[in-house]
Amino acid sequence: MSFAEPRDTVLITGASTGIGATYADRLAQRGHPLILVARNQDRLQALAQRLTREYGVKTEVMMADLTQSQDRLRVERRLGDDHTIGWLLNSAGMAVGTAIAEASPDTAESMIQLNIVAPTRLIGAMLPRLLARGRGSIINIASVLALAPELFDGAYGASKSYLLNYTLALHKEAGHRGIRVQAVLPGITRTEIWQHTGGTPETIPPSTIMEVDEMVDAALAGYDQGEVVTIPSLPDNEDWNRYVAARQRLMPSLSRDHAADRYKSDIPEDA
Ligand SMILES: NC(=O)c1ccc[n+]([C@@H]2O[C@H](COP(=O)([O-])OP(=O)(O)OC[C@H]3O[C@@H](n4cnc5c(N)ncnc54)[C@H](OP(=O)(O)O)[C@@H]3O)[C@@H](O)[C@H]2O)c1
Repeated sequence: MSFAEPRDTVLITGASTGIGATYADRLAQRGHPLILVARNQDRLQALAQRLTREYGVKTEVMMADLTQSQDRLRVERRLGDDHTIGWLLNSAGMAVGTAIAEASPDTAESMIQLNIVAPTRLIGAMLPRLLARGRGSIINIASVLALAPELFDGAYGASKSYLLNYTLALHKEAGHRGIRVQAVLPGITRTEIWQHTGGTPETIPPSTIMEVDEMVDAALAGYDQGEVVTIPSLPDNEDWNRYVAARQRLMPSLSRDHAADRYKSDIPEDA
């Protein structure tokens, strides 16, 4: 499947560096005008100028701290009002790898604001407009930790589980109404995010680290193939299909009028 609306403007959060900036490069190459959102204005402007110079696309910079409601509201209004924007790519995110017992509640809350509240509010601001016109694309950068929260300390994995489940719910509600939805689940990807969490990829086996260009190119190939969930490093997609099938097998038993027998066996008959 090719990109249906190559001229739609894409709003990218977390576009100043890393995964978001790499998407910006690839989407500009495909001819999309871009709105680049993050806090670091100098970096955003340098990227915007390069992309316009190299690919001839229109680019705009929007400085916003997406943990702050006033800044977020500006982006929400833009997504709700600007009819040229047909795509939203939620890449802005932070990873706090501190154990739950030791994590600062304020830092945990900031992570939830950025990883959960911001994509939820931005999608909510844009979706009614996309549904009205019957087309659009929403890409959410989650993480493989959505499936394996045990591999990292703290609440980060849980924040990415939210984004994965939110994407699946969105696909159920809007997928048949012309809205393309994709959750991307990167493994460890070489970006600056590791500098912010105190660990660096150098401390991790090199065979588990992907270069950001390869990750984004694979994720876009997954989008082009119509995937709703893309795990760039997964060699055999049948493994994912089996995981989904195992989840589906639970469905008929998840809500019943009686508790399972194993929870009743110890109750004395005269209790
Ligand atoms: N790298 C990995 O190993 C990996 C693996 C799985 C998933 N992910 C996910 O991929 C996404 C992108 O991560 P990355 O690796 O590209 O990280 P990164 O290199 O640290 O980039 C993060 C981006 O988010 C922006 N950002 C951070 N805080 C922000 C805030 N408060 N408001 C607005 N923008 C903010 C940053 O720009 P400013 O500082 O200019 O605001 C930057 O553009 C994240 O959601 C991350 O959780 C990454």
